Amino acid sequence: MRDVAVIGIGCTKFGELWDKSFRSLFVEAGTMAIADAEISGEQIDEMFVGNMSAGRFVGQEHVGALIADYSGFATANIPATRVEAACASGGLAFRQAFTAVASGLADVVVAAGVEKMNDVGVEETTDVLAAAADREWEGIAGVTFPGLYAMIARDYMNRYGLTREQLAMVAVKNHDNGQFNPNAQFPSKITIDTVLNSSLVADPLRLFDCSPVTDGAAAVILCPLDRAREFTDTPIKVLASSQASSSIALHDRADISTLDATVAAGNRAFEMSKLQRSDIDFVEVHDCFTIAELCAIEDLGFCKKGEAGKLTEDGETALHGKLPVNTSGGLKSCGHPVGATGVKQIYEIVTQLRGDAGKRQIDADIGMTHNVGGTGATVVCNILGRV
Ligand code: COA
Repeated sequence: MRDVAVIGIGCTKFGELWDKSFRSLFVEAGTMAIADAEISGEQIDEMFVGNMSAGRFVGQEHVGALIADYSGFATANIPATRVEAACASGGLAFRQAFTAVASGLADVVVAAGVEKMNDVGVEETTDVLAAAADREWEGIAGVTFPGLYAMIARDYMNRYGLTREQLAMVAVKNHDNGQFNPNAQFPSKITIDTVLNSSLVADPLRLFDCSPVTDGAAAVILCPLDRAREFTDTPIKVLASSQASSSIALHDRADISTLDATVAAGNRAFEMSKLQRSDIDFVEVHDCFTIAELCAIEDLGFCKKGEAGKLTEDGETALHGKLPVNTSGGLKSCGHPVGATGVKQIYEIVTQLRGDAGKRQIDADIGMTHNVGGTGATVVCNILGRV
Protein backbone atom coordinates (compact mmCIF):
# COMPACT_ATOMS: atom_id res chain seq x y z
CA MET A 1 0.00 0.00 0.00
CA ARG A 2 1.29 3.48 -0.87
CA ASP A 3 1.30 6.43 1.54
CA VAL A 4 -1.35 9.01 0.63
CA ALA A 5 -1.56 12.77 1.13
CA VAL A 6 -4.21 15.46 0.83
CA ILE A 7 -2.95 18.21 -1.49
CA GLY A 8 -6.00 20.41 -2.05
CA ILE A 9 -9.19 21.38 -0.23
CA GLY A 10 -12.38 23.33 -0.94
CA CYS A 11 -15.63 24.00 0.89
CA THR A 12 -18.68 26.15 0.14
CA LYS A 13 -20.52 28.20 2.69
CA PHE A 14 -23.05 26.01 4.51
CA GLY A 15 -26.65 27.14 4.99
CA GLU A 16 -29.95 27.69 3.17
CA LEU A 17 -28.45 28.41 -0.24
CA TRP A 18 -31.45 29.35 -2.37
CA ASP A 19 -29.37 30.93 -5.12
CA LYS A 20 -27.25 27.80 -5.70
CA SER A 21 -28.16 24.54 -7.40
CA PHE A 22 -27.04 21.05 -6.37
CA ARG A 23 -24.59 20.83 -9.26
CA SER A 24 -23.23 24.35 -8.81
CA LEU A 25 -22.44 23.62 -5.16
CA PHE A 26 -20.33 20.63 -6.16
CA VAL A 27 -18.55 22.56 -8.92
CA GLU A 28 -17.81 25.44 -6.51
CA ALA A 29 -16.17 23.17 -3.89
CA GLY A 30 -14.33 21.12 -6.54
CA THR A 31 -12.98 24.22 -8.28
CA MET A 32 -11.67 25.55 -4.96
CA ALA A 33 -9.89 22.24 -4.25
CA ILE A 34 -8.34 22.11 -7.73
CA ALA A 35 -7.14 25.71 -7.45
CA ASP A 36 -5.79 25.02 -3.95
CA ALA A 37 -3.81 22.00 -5.21
CA GLU A 38 -2.66 24.03 -8.20
CA ILE A 39 -3.46 21.18 -10.58
CA SER A 40 -5.28 21.22 -13.87
CA GLY A 41 -8.36 19.14 -14.57
CA GLU A 42 -6.42 16.87 -16.96
CA GLN A 43 -4.31 15.61 -14.06
CA ILE A 44 -7.31 14.08 -12.28
CA ASP A 45 -7.62 10.29 -12.61
CA GLU A 46 -10.84 9.56 -10.71
CA MET A 47 -13.62 11.08 -8.58
CA PHE A 48 -15.76 9.84 -5.68
CA VAL A 49 -18.71 11.89 -4.50
CA GLY A 50 -20.60 11.34 -1.26
CA ASN A 51 -24.30 12.00 -1.52
CA MET A 52 -27.13 10.62 0.57
CA SER A 53 -30.34 11.40 -1.26
CA ALA A 54 -30.22 13.74 -4.25
CA GLY A 55 -33.00 11.61 -5.75
CA ARG A 56 -35.44 12.75 -3.08
CA PHE A 57 -34.01 16.17 -2.20
CA VAL A 58 -33.62 17.50 -5.75
CA GLY A 59 -35.00 14.71 -7.98
CA GLN A 60 -31.58 13.85 -9.38
CA GLU A 61 -30.02 10.39 -9.50
CA HIS A 62 -26.90 9.29 -11.42
CA VAL A 63 -24.95 11.80 -9.38
CA GLY A 64 -21.46 10.55 -10.32
CA ALA A 65 -22.11 11.13 -14.02
CA LEU A 66 -23.76 14.51 -13.41
CA ILE A 67 -20.83 15.70 -11.34
CA ALA A 68 -18.26 14.52 -13.92
CA ASP A 69 -20.22 16.25 -16.66
CA TYR A 70 -20.68 19.59 -14.88
CA SER A 71 -17.08 19.61 -13.68
CA GLY A 72 -15.99 19.34 -17.30
CA PHE A 73 -14.44 15.89 -16.86
CA ALA A 74 -16.93 13.83 -18.86
CA THR A 75 -15.20 14.64 -22.14
CA ALA A 76 -12.03 13.03 -20.76
CA ASN A 77 -14.12 10.01 -19.64
CA ILE A 78 -12.83 10.25 -16.05
CA PRO A 79 -14.47 7.63 -13.81
CA ALA A 80 -16.85 9.24 -11.28
CA THR A 81 -18.63 7.24 -8.59
CA ARG A 82 -21.38 8.21 -6.16
CA VAL A 83 -20.88 6.82 -2.66
CA GLU A 84 -23.89 6.46 -0.36
CA ALA A 85 -23.81 5.65 3.35
CA ALA A 86 -26.44 8.10 4.68
CA CYS A 87 -24.73 10.83 6.74
CA ALA A 88 -21.38 9.00 6.42
CA SER A 89 -21.43 9.27 2.60
CA GLY A 90 -18.74 11.98 2.56
CA GLY A 91 -16.41 10.15 4.95
CA LEU A 92 -16.81 7.01 2.87
CA ALA A 93 -16.13 8.88 -0.40
CA PHE A 94 -12.87 10.01 1.17
CA ARG A 95 -12.06 6.44 2.20
CA GLN A 96 -12.77 5.17 -1.33
CA ALA A 97 -10.47 7.84 -2.77
CA PHE A 98 -7.80 6.94 -0.22
CA THR A 99 -8.10 3.26 -1.18
CA ALA A 100 -7.81 4.06 -4.91
CA VAL A 101 -4.59 6.03 -4.38
CA ALA A 102 -3.10 3.68 -1.75
CA SER A 103 -3.68 0.65 -3.97
CA GLY A 104 -1.92 2.28 -6.93
CA LEU A 105 -5.02 2.16 -9.14
CA ALA A 106 -5.09 5.95 -9.46
CA ASP A 107 -2.77 8.85 -8.67
CA VAL A 108 -4.73 12.09 -8.40
CA VAL A 109 -8.23 11.53 -7.02
CA VAL A 110 -11.05 13.86 -5.93
CA ALA A 111 -13.12 12.99 -2.83
CA ALA A 112 -16.16 15.20 -2.53
CA GLY A 113 -19.52 15.40 -0.81
CA VAL A 114 -22.62 17.39 -1.66
CA GLU A 115 -26.20 17.70 -0.43
CA LYS A 116 -28.96 20.19 -1.11
CA MET A 117 -31.57 19.58 1.58
CA ASN A 118 -33.64 22.76 1.70
CA ASP A 119 -35.41 22.42 -1.64
CA VAL A 120 -38.06 20.27 0.07
CA GLY A 121 -40.02 21.11 3.24
CA VAL A 122 -39.00 19.95 6.72
CA GLU A 123 -41.59 17.12 6.76
CA GLU A 124 -40.12 15.64 3.57
CA THR A 125 -36.57 16.19 4.87
CA THR A 126 -37.44 14.36 8.08
CA ASP A 127 -38.81 11.44 6.07
CA VAL A 128 -35.76 11.33 3.76
CA LEU A 129 -33.45 11.28 6.79
CA ALA A 130 -35.56 8.55 8.43
CA ALA A 131 -34.63 6.34 5.47
CA ALA A 132 -31.15 6.09 7.01
CA ALA A 133 -32.72 4.10 9.86
CA ASP A 134 -34.59 0.81 9.51
CA ARG A 135 -37.74 1.74 7.56
CA GLU A 136 -39.62 -1.49 8.36
CA TRP A 137 -38.92 -1.49 12.09
CA GLU A 138 -38.33 2.16 13.00
CA GLY A 139 -39.60 4.53 10.30
CA ILE A 140 -42.89 2.70 9.94
CA ALA A 141 -43.58 3.23 13.64
CA GLY A 142 -43.18 6.97 13.11
CA VAL A 143 -39.83 7.43 14.76
CA THR A 144 -37.68 10.22 13.29
CA PHE A 145 -33.94 10.85 13.60
CA PRO A 146 -34.36 13.30 16.47
CA GLY A 147 -36.63 10.63 18.04
CA LEU A 148 -33.98 7.90 17.77
CA TYR A 149 -31.24 10.08 19.23
CA ALA A 150 -33.66 11.21 21.95
CA MET A 151 -33.95 7.55 23.02
CA ILE A 152 -30.16 7.32 23.13
CA ALA A 153 -30.01 10.54 25.17
CA ARG A 154 -32.66 9.38 27.65
CA ASP A 155 -30.95 6.00 28.10
CA TYR A 156 -27.58 7.69 28.58
CA MET A 157 -28.94 10.23 31.09
CA ASN A 158 -30.63 7.49 33.14
CA ARG A 159 -27.52 5.31 33.23
CA TYR A 160 -24.74 7.83 33.65
CA GLY A 161 -26.44 10.77 35.39
CA LEU A 162 -25.73 13.23 32.56
CA THR A 163 -27.53 16.50 33.30
CA ARG A 164 -29.62 18.47 30.82
CA GLU A 165 -27.21 21.39 31.32
CA GLN A 166 -24.16 19.25 30.44
CA LEU A 167 -25.89 18.20 27.23
CA ALA A 168 -26.53 21.87 26.40
CA MET A 169 -22.83 22.64 26.97
CA VAL A 170 -21.95 20.59 23.88
CA ALA A 171 -24.03 22.94 21.71
CA VAL A 172 -22.68 26.04 23.48
CA LYS A 173 -19.08 24.87 22.91
CA ASN A 174 -19.68 24.07 19.25
CA HIS A 175 -21.30 27.46 18.61
CA ASP A 176 -18.30 29.07 20.40
CA ASN A 177 -16.08 27.43 17.76
CA GLY A 178 -18.47 27.95 14.84
CA GLN A 179 -18.55 31.73 15.41
CA PHE A 180 -15.00 31.76 14.00
CA ASN A 181 -15.81 29.63 10.95
CA PRO A 182 -16.72 31.74 7.89
CA ASN A 183 -18.46 28.73 6.30
CA ALA A 184 -20.74 28.03 9.28
CA GLN A 185 -24.53 28.06 8.91
CA PHE A 186 -25.12 29.33 12.45
CA PRO A 187 -21.96 31.23 13.43
CA SER A 188 -23.61 32.65 16.54
CA LYS A 189 -22.58 32.39 20.16
CA ILE A 190 -25.29 30.86 22.33
CA THR A 191 -25.78 30.19 26.05
CA ILE A 192 -27.04 27.24 28.04
CA ASP A 193 -30.34 29.13 28.41
CA THR A 194 -30.61 29.45 24.60
CA VAL A 195 -30.54 25.66 24.40
CA LEU A 196 -32.81 25.03 27.40
CA ASN A 197 -35.40 27.58 26.22
CA SER A 198 -35.42 26.46 22.57
CA SER A 199 -38.43 24.49 21.36
CA LEU A 200 -38.72 20.82 22.27
CA VAL A 201 -38.08 18.54 19.28
CA ALA A 202 -38.02 15.03 20.83
CA ASP A 203 -37.68 14.91 24.61
CA PRO A 204 -35.02 15.54 25.95
CA LEU A 205 -33.62 17.05 22.73
CA ARG A 206 -34.45 20.65 21.88
CA LEU A 207 -33.92 22.68 18.71
CA PHE A 208 -30.40 23.71 19.74
CA ASP A 209 -29.44 20.08 20.46
CA CYS A 210 -30.04 19.28 16.78
CA SER A 211 -27.85 19.81 13.73
CA PRO A 212 -29.76 21.89 11.19
CA VAL A 213 -30.96 21.16 7.66
CA THR A 214 -28.21 22.39 5.34
CA ASP A 215 -27.11 22.89 1.74
CA GLY A 216 -23.38 22.65 1.01
CA ALA A 217 -20.46 20.85 -0.57
CA ALA A 218 -16.82 20.08 0.18
CA ALA A 219 -14.03 18.54 -1.89
CA VAL A 220 -10.45 17.41 -1.29
CA ILE A 221 -7.75 16.08 -3.59
CA LEU A 222 -5.50 13.14 -2.76
CA CYS A 223 -2.34 11.78 -4.36
CA PRO A 224 0.56 9.50 -3.42
CA LEU A 225 2.68 11.07 -0.67
CA ASP A 226 5.82 10.76 -2.76
CA ARG A 227 4.25 12.99 -5.46
CA ALA A 228 2.63 15.48 -3.08
CA ARG A 229 5.42 18.06 -3.14
CA GLU A 230 4.93 18.43 -6.91
CA PHE A 231 1.69 20.20 -5.99
CA THR A 232 1.97 21.73 -2.50
CA ASP A 233 4.45 22.74 0.21
CA THR A 234 2.04 21.57 2.91
CA PRO A 235 0.90 18.03 2.12
CA ILE A 236 -1.12 16.40 4.90
CA LYS A 237 -0.56 12.67 5.26
CA VAL A 238 -3.45 10.24 5.69
CA LEU A 239 -2.30 8.11 8.63
CA ALA A 240 -5.38 5.86 8.75
CA SER A 241 -8.77 5.37 7.14
CA SER A 242 -11.19 2.87 8.64
CA GLN A 243 -14.82 1.84 8.39
CA ALA A 244 -17.19 -0.34 10.44
CA SER A 245 -20.80 -1.48 10.31
CA SER A 246 -23.36 -2.29 13.01
CA SER A 247 -27.07 -3.11 13.12
CA ILE A 248 -29.19 -0.54 11.29
CA ALA A 249 -32.01 -0.62 13.90
CA LEU A 250 -31.34 0.73 17.36
CA HIS A 251 -33.27 -2.05 19.11
CA ASP A 252 -30.85 -4.69 17.77
CA ARG A 253 -27.91 -3.19 19.68
CA ALA A 254 -26.79 -4.68 23.00
CA ASP A 255 -26.38 -1.14 24.35
CA ILE A 256 -28.05 1.77 22.56
CA SER A 257 -25.79 4.47 23.98
CA THR A 258 -22.60 2.76 22.79
CA LEU A 259 -22.06 2.85 19.02
CA ASP A 260 -20.32 -0.48 18.32
CA ALA A 261 -19.29 0.71 14.88
CA THR A 262 -17.56 3.75 16.39
CA VAL A 263 -15.66 1.48 18.78
CA ALA A 264 -14.61 -0.82 15.90
CA ALA A 265 -13.74 1.93 13.39
CA GLY A 266 -11.83 3.83 16.06
CA ASN A 267 -9.83 0.76 17.09
CA ARG A 268 -9.05 -0.02 13.45
CA ALA A 269 -7.86 3.53 12.81
CA PHE A 270 -5.54 3.40 15.83
CA GLU A 271 -4.20 0.01 14.77
CA MET A 272 -3.58 1.18 11.22
CA SER A 273 -1.84 4.40 12.26
CA LYS A 274 0.02 2.75 15.17
CA LEU A 275 -0.94 5.80 17.24
CA GLN A 276 -2.25 6.07 20.80
CA ARG A 277 -5.32 8.11 21.82
CA SER A 278 -2.92 10.54 23.50
CA ASP A 279 -1.26 11.25 20.12
CA ILE A 280 -4.45 12.83 18.74
CA ASP A 281 -4.40 16.62 19.12
CA PHE A 282 -8.01 17.28 18.07
CA VAL A 283 -11.01 15.50 16.64
CA GLU A 284 -13.99 16.33 14.43
CA VAL A 285 -16.83 14.06 15.58
CA HIS A 286 -20.34 13.50 14.27
CA ASP A 287 -22.44 15.70 16.59
CA CYS A 288 -25.69 15.37 14.64
CA PHE A 289 -27.29 15.75 18.09
CA THR A 290 -25.52 16.89 21.26
CA ILE A 291 -25.72 13.40 22.78
CA ALA A 292 -23.93 11.98 19.71
CA GLU A 293 -20.79 14.01 20.46
CA LEU A 294 -20.60 12.63 24.01
CA CYS A 295 -21.05 9.03 22.81
CA ALA A 296 -18.39 9.58 20.11
CA ILE A 297 -15.73 10.90 22.51
CA GLU A 298 -16.27 7.86 24.76
CA ASP A 299 -16.65 5.22 22.04
CA LEU A 300 -13.46 6.42 20.34
CA GLY A 301 -11.71 5.76 23.65
CA PHE A 302 -10.80 9.31 24.70
CA CYS A 303 -12.46 8.79 28.11
CA LYS A 304 -14.49 6.18 29.96
CA LYS A 305 -18.22 5.67 29.37
CA GLY A 306 -20.25 8.27 31.24
CA GLU A 307 -17.39 10.79 31.58
CA ALA A 308 -17.75 12.92 28.42
CA GLY A 309 -20.38 15.26 29.94
CA LYS A 310 -18.00 16.18 32.78
CA LEU A 311 -15.12 16.54 30.27
CA THR A 312 -17.23 19.03 28.32
CA GLU A 313 -18.28 20.88 31.47
CA ASP A 314 -14.62 21.16 32.54
CA GLY A 315 -13.71 22.75 29.18
CA GLU A 316 -11.40 19.89 28.14
CA THR A 317 -13.10 19.62 24.72
CA ALA A 318 -13.18 23.40 24.16
CA LEU A 319 -11.07 25.13 21.49
CA HIS A 320 -8.02 25.41 23.72
CA GLY A 321 -8.81 22.46 25.97
CA LYS A 322 -6.83 19.24 26.30
CA LEU A 323 -8.69 17.57 23.41
CA PRO A 324 -10.45 20.16 21.22
CA VAL A 325 -13.58 18.60 19.73
CA ASN A 326 -15.25 20.06 16.64
CA THR A 327 -13.12 23.14 16.08
CA SER A 328 -15.18 23.79 12.92
CA GLY A 329 -18.32 24.24 15.01
CA GLY A 330 -19.29 20.67 14.26
CA LEU A 331 -22.51 19.66 12.58
CA LYS A 332 -24.39 21.74 15.14
CA SER A 333 -23.06 25.19 14.33
CA CYS A 334 -21.32 24.68 10.97
CA GLY A 335 -24.31 22.76 9.58
CA HIS A 336 -24.90 19.25 8.27
CA PRO A 337 -25.41 18.81 4.51
CA VAL A 338 -25.49 15.07 5.07
CA GLY A 339 -23.47 13.84 2.06
CA ALA A 340 -20.86 16.59 2.47
CA THR A 341 -20.18 16.47 6.20
CA GLY A 342 -17.50 13.74 6.18
CA VAL A 343 -15.46 15.67 3.59
CA LYS A 344 -15.94 18.94 5.47
CA GLN A 345 -14.45 17.21 8.52
CA ILE A 346 -11.31 16.43 6.44
CA TYR A 347 -11.32 20.05 5.21
CA GLU A 348 -11.27 21.25 8.83
CA ILE A 349 -8.45 18.90 9.87
CA VAL A 350 -6.31 19.97 6.89
CA THR A 351 -7.08 23.67 7.48
CA GLN A 352 -5.99 23.36 11.12
CA LEU A 353 -2.86 21.31 10.31
CA ARG A 354 -1.81 23.88 7.70
CA GLY A 355 -2.25 26.67 10.27
CA ASP A 356 -4.95 28.37 8.18
CA ALA A 357 -7.85 28.31 10.68
CA GLY A 358 -7.73 31.98 11.67
CA LYS A 359 -9.40 32.79 14.99
CA ARG A 360 -10.19 29.12 15.64
CA GLN A 361 -6.58 28.01 15.06
CA ILE A 362 -5.18 25.50 17.54
CA ASP A 363 -1.68 24.06 17.93
CA ALA A 364 -1.89 20.59 16.33
CA ASP A 365 0.10 17.96 14.42
CA ILE A 366 -2.45 15.13 14.22
CA GLY A 367 -6.24 15.24 13.84
CA MET A 368 -8.99 12.63 13.56
CA THR A 369 -12.43 12.53 11.93
CA HIS A 370 -15.47 10.46 12.93
CA ASN A 371 -18.45 10.33 10.55
CA VAL A 372 -21.64 8.37 11.31
CA GLY A 373 -24.34 7.01 9.00
CA GLY A 374 -27.77 6.50 10.59
CA THR A 375 -27.66 5.97 14.33
CA GLY A 376 -24.33 4.17 13.95
CA ALA A 377 -24.88 1.51 11.30
CA THR A 378 -21.90 2.89 9.36
CA VAL A 379 -18.93 4.69 10.90
CA VAL A 380 -15.87 6.03 9.09
CA CYS A 381 -12.76 7.31 10.90
CA ASN A 382 -9.74 9.01 9.38
CA ILE A 383 -6.51 10.18 10.99
CA LEU A 384 -4.37 12.83 9.29
CA GLY A 385 -1.05 14.37 10.24
CA ARG A 386 1.48 17.01 9.24
CA VAL A 387 4.37 15.72 7.20
N1 COA B 1 -29.84 25.08 15.32
C1 COA B 1 -29.99 26.41 15.46
N2 COA B 1 -30.98 27.10 14.88
C2 COA B 1 -31.80 26.44 14.08
C3 COA B 1 -31.69 25.05 13.85
C4 COA B 1 -30.66 24.39 14.52
N3 COA B 1 -30.52 23.07 14.38
N4 COA B 1 -32.66 24.67 13.03
C5 COA B 1 -33.35 25.76 12.72
N5 COA B 1 -32.84 26.83 13.35
C6 COA B 1 -33.37 28.18 13.36
C7 COA B 1 -33.84 28.60 11.98
O1 COA B 1 -32.90 29.41 11.31
C8 COA B 1 -35.07 29.42 12.32
O2 COA B 1 -34.68 30.70 12.72
P1 COA B 1 -35.52 31.97 12.24
O3 COA B 1 -36.92 31.74 12.75
O4 COA B 1 -34.80 33.12 12.86
O5 COA B 1 -35.46 31.93 10.75
C9 COA B 1 -35.65 28.75 13.55
O6 COA B 1 -34.52 28.11 14.17
C10 COA B 1 -36.72 27.72 13.25
O7 COA B 1 -36.23 26.92 12.21
P2 COA B 1 -37.11 25.97 11.33
O8 COA B 1 -36.38 25.79 10.04
O9 COA B 1 -38.55 26.45 11.28
O10 COA B 1 -37.04 24.63 12.16
P3 COA B 1 -37.71 23.31 11.77
O11 COA B 1 -38.73 23.01 12.81
O12 COA B 1 -38.15 23.33 10.36
O13 COA B 1 -36.51 22.27 11.89
C11 COA B 1 -35.37 20.59 13.18
C12 COA B 1 -35.86 22.05 13.13
C13 COA B 1 -34.61 20.39 14.47
C14 COA B 1 -36.58 19.66 13.15
C15 COA B 1 -34.48 20.33 11.95
O14 COA B 1 -33.40 21.24 11.96
C16 COA B 1 -33.94 18.90 11.96
O15 COA B 1 -34.63 17.98 11.58
N6 COA B 1 -32.70 18.71 12.40
C17 COA B 1 -32.09 17.36 12.45
C18 COA B 1 -31.53 16.99 11.11
C19 COA B 1 -31.07 15.56 11.10
O16 COA B 1 -31.69 14.67 11.66
N7 COA B 1 -29.97 15.29 10.42
C20 COA B 1 -29.41 13.97 10.29
C21 COA B 1 -28.76 13.56 11.54
S1 COA B 1 -27.72 12.15 11.39
